[in-house]
Amino acid sequence: MKKIVIEGNHLLSGTVHIGGAKNSVVALIPASILTKGKCVIENVPDISDVRILIDTLKYLGSKVTFKDEVLTIDNSNVEPKAISEEFASKIRASYYFMGSFLSRFNTVDISCPGGCVIGTRPIDIHLEAFSKMGVKIKEDDGHYVMNTKKLEGKNIFFNFPSVGATINVMLSAVLAKGKTKIINAATEPEITNVASFLNSMGAKVFGAGTSTIEITGVEELHDGYVKVIPDRIEAGTYLIIGSLLGRNFKVDDIIEEHLYALISKLEDAGVKLKVGKNSITVNKTKNLKAVNIKTGVYPGFVTDLGQPMSAFLTQCEGESLFEETIYENRLRHVPHLNNMGADIKAFDKKAIIRGKTNLVGRKVKATDLRAGAAMLIAGMVANGTTTIYNIEHLLRGYERLVDKLNNVGANIKLIDE
Ligand code: UD1
Repeated sequence: MKKIVIEGNHLLSGTVHIGGAKNSVVALIPASILTKGKCVIENVPDISDVRILIDTLKYLGSKVTFKDEVLTIDNSNVEPKAISEEFASKIRASYYFMGSFLSRFNTVDISCPGGCVIGTRPIDIHLEAFSKMGVKIKEDDGHYVMNTKKLEGKNIFFNFPSVGATINVMLSAVLAKGKTKIINAATEPEITNVASFLNSMGAKVFGAGTSTIEITGVEELHDGYVKVIPDRIEAGTYLIIGSLLGRNFKVDDIIEEHLYALISKLEDAGVKLKVGKNSITVNKTKNLKAVNIKTGVYPGFVTDLGQPMSAFLTQCEGESLFEETIYENRLRHVPHLNNMGADIKAFDKKAIIRGKTNLVGRKVKATDLRAGAAMLIAGMVANGTTTIYNIEHLLRGYERLVDKLNNVGANIKLIDE
């Protein structure tokens, strides 16, 4: 069991470099299955989700090397072995093996995807699309066996622009017979990153990043290359930390455009951000003002930064209304924040956050990945010592978190008991 111990209230100076996006790389690795050629993926973050996916590829017969943030994958000898619960339940993104296996092998045998317990997280949109494309699906208690003679391109309308379903349909469509159109597709930057990778292999994907994506199936794919985009959630988390504790605190290797919603809300709260070419510098801001946050699909305020932002709002003067619109259970961290002295009333998927409250160090839990980030932020601004348990969740999404923060002046210890 790992925990982190934070001595709060240390100002942070210097530069934090942002790694590759978790939510991109967890799709890019299963996407590599689509080709027998060699794939090179650069700017890969060293996080546990990546290690789990590498182990899964090796189990399937891949040759993989991972060194200096570069992942080289040779899937020429991969076989469509069953992906058991042991692998699939560790991360949500294991569902991308559905799309890539159906494309390459016309079959997949996989257990239910795992991931953070932030809602019911069904995969019905993925399954309906597969079925429309000619896949026969058998499900038994979270175990899926799917078969098709050959995937067929179709027009597919999504009731909701699901990130996972958009990527899964792209993976299914690149080698399918004919043309696929995804209508009401998700537009998150990670989708564009995956489309670039597919096109580098010879796929024909047009319109990624817009709500209509057209994919014309090709016979075969060849070698592929992609550089993972910067992790906008990691960058956003550090920008929030810098707004509370920074002294010339630079968040480097970012794409500003991916962070517009957060930047706008931080500015509304009174934070002054200095935007450079690929970086933003921020300072601790006094007299922060309350702001209302409503999460939404891209380019709205990303749900993954909602919990970190809730910790920030405890430091703002006045009453902020926080509303989550994507998941049912994004507020499980609230009792832990209140235990540290916050004044938050949570109801349905909303919370009223009254500030400014002086937080004090306590023993708390990371109930999921982004809840862990919220507790980390709270611990860093609190007086005294905060211990966060169950931080395996947190380490899944933040590369070298403790080192990155200690290098700029934080006092955080990672303890493995
Ligand atoms: C991805 C991200 C996650 C992020 C989310 C929204 C990964 C690995 N995870 O998750 O960090 O919070 O996008 O930006 O990339 N839904 C259905 N049926 C479906 C699919 C989704 O009802 O078939 C619902 C979900 O329960 C949720 C909402 O749609 O309420 C959003 O889901 P989706 O966009 O698919 O997110 P994920 O791909 O799971």
